[in-house]
Amino acid sequence: MSRGVLISHGWLVAALLVGPVNSALAADWPSPVANDVLPYPTSGLTHGPMLGRPASDGVRIWLRTDQPRQFAVVYDTQVPLGADSPSVSGKTIAASDNTAKVDLAGLAADTRYFYGIRINGQLIDTRVDFHDPWPAFQTLADAGTARDEAVNPEGLTNLCFAIGHCMSQEPGPRSGGHYASSPVFDTLLARHGDEPRFMIINGDIIYEERRDGTLDGVRENYRLYFERGRSFARLARRLPLLFTFDDHDVGWDIHGCGEVGLGEGRHLMRDIGLAAYGDYAAWANPQMASRGTIRFGTAAMAGGSDLLVDEQADFTGLDPATVSTIHVGSYTRPDSGWKRPDAGDTAKPPPNAGVYGLVEVVDAHRLRVRPASAKDGTAGYSIGTHHYYDWQQDNCHFLALDTRGERSCFNGKNRADPQAFILGEAQERWLLETARTTPADFIFLISPDPWTVYHTAAHVSTKPGADRDDKGDGFPSFLHQRERLLEALEAVGKPVLIFSGDVHHAASVRISEHVWEFLCGPLASTGHPLATLGNPPTGGSWESMGRPVDIRWLSGFPNDLPYQRIRNAYYGLVRVNNAAEVGRPRAVGLRLAAFDRPSVTVRWHDAYTGRLTYAETVLAN
Ligand SMILES: [Fe+2]
Repeated sequence: MSRGVLISHGWLVAALLVGPVNSALAADWPSPVANDVLPYPTSGLTHGPMLGRPASDGVRIWLRTDQPRQFAVVYDTQVPLGADSPSVSGKTIAASDNTAKVDLAGLAADTRYFYGIRINGQLIDTRVDFHDPWPAFQTLADAGTARDEAVNPEGLTNLCFAIGHCMSQEPGPRSGGHYASSPVFDTLLARHGDEPRFMIINGDIIYEERRDGTLDGVRENYRLYFERGRSFARLARRLPLLFTFDDHDVGWDIHGCGEVGLGEGRHLMRDIGLAAYGDYAAWANPQMASRGTIRFGTAAMAGGSDLLVDEQADFTGLDPATVSTIHVGSYTRPDSGWKRPDAGDTAKPPPNAGVYGLVEVVDAHRLRVRPASAKDGTAGYSIGTHHYYDWQQDNCHFLALDTRGERSCFNGKNRADPQAFILGEAQERWLLETARTTPADFIFLISPDPWTVYHTAAHVSTKPGADRDDKGDGFPSFLHQRERLLEALEAVGKPVLIFSGDVHHAASVRISEHVWEFLCGPLASTGHPLATLGNPPTGGSWESMGRPVDIRWLSGFPNDLPYQRIRNAYYGLVRVNNAAEVGRPRAVGLRLAAFDRPSVTVRWHDAYTGRLTYAETVLAN
């Protein structure tokens, strides 16, 4: 613990730590003159490194190269990184768009590690700008680092993480235009240094640019964002990330992609979008047993038959528990329009296009699906997988949802339609089972879509009643399931903090005694005025589709502002307060004295200045 506390003040302290370690000759390390490092653009690296999967004993490192290459990640608790520093080797592969990830394991808890990338034996200068500090990260604390028999027998530690949603770099004019390199990420690093130990990007990581209707077009969208967004790249070098996906990540609304029996439609964009999300973002998330690999192929189907046949496939290793739904006629779209790419034989939907459920794996080449196909024909297909995940850190349990990829269509005439769902059956079971059985004090639900505020089209519509017409993005359009889930979560009897997104507004809402909703954003996208949220008050009681809630605070962008002119942006910092930093009775140094009642403080900060805007504290039972 003491090391983490002592070096918790960021770059300055990191620089001071370098001093005594180095000889005079190494004082200028890394010197391009001495060829300590190779400038990034000449190295073969094109993207990254980025950090993911925060843990007390390891971290995951991702990167992309210009062609398939061998590389090594070298790391140490001090710089210069040299021949004696430990290293892990990896290889980028063409099938993953020349990306790769490696895991550093067996690291010490609550410790700062410097790291670098070597290609062909040469260390690469991975600073985004030359005068940036050398990339480093800190592992999470664990009980062993904090245990004190007198004041903290369980070894509880404090945890701080950053969270936010919607980080558009879209230059306009469609949504008003944004900074190409979002100010928020530099603000976060400059104002808070290493206070947060990881960051959750809760959906809308990218917005549609440079898409050409192919998988490579979606990948190009990520490549653009991770390159043009220099501030994001800088943050991702220092702070491990976790991601969820929302509509823009896959190409906009995909209503119905989990509704077995639904036919042709843009919901069939899901899996190409999520394949690219896997290469560029989902690598950072914990891998659940329920998450498999998205498979693509060409299926032969006979009219009236329930068999999907692919002689090129090997289905023997396909675990049905990892399958969400199967899409026949998968496609993705170019930047403009909703239709299939207007080229070649993909311009029209192929026969039997739609959503299918897996009944059983018959043999290596055949799946039994439902419903049976209507016509004879061949078509491209994709086998989707579950993207939800959870992990526990100390007395906190994080559950990250997939609120887009397994949903049915919504019923605009009856939002309480019992047939409509936003989470699939497997995901609901996992969510409630985990929430009911976790020993953690706090449950954090990471939900890319909102639970109480609406997402209407009022920012682009002047129609009367537009502010009441939730357009199906979030839980207010799936009331039957929302109410069932909220009642079950309240019954758990522990604080449940739902962090949601999609709507470009910051908010704190007390839903019931134990359940809260927080929107920490937008990180960079232009804001939505109050009408888009359904015109709730900026503080006070409100009825969200029949459920009374207490609006504690909203960022409150007024309706006389066109959304293209709402440039407020926010990030959230969440601190779990388990223990106080106190001195030792005799020795020098700090220790942690556990509180009798832990709490969580959620802070909203202005993305440009870092100033505190609002804070909410939730107490453990
Ligand atoms: Fe968004």
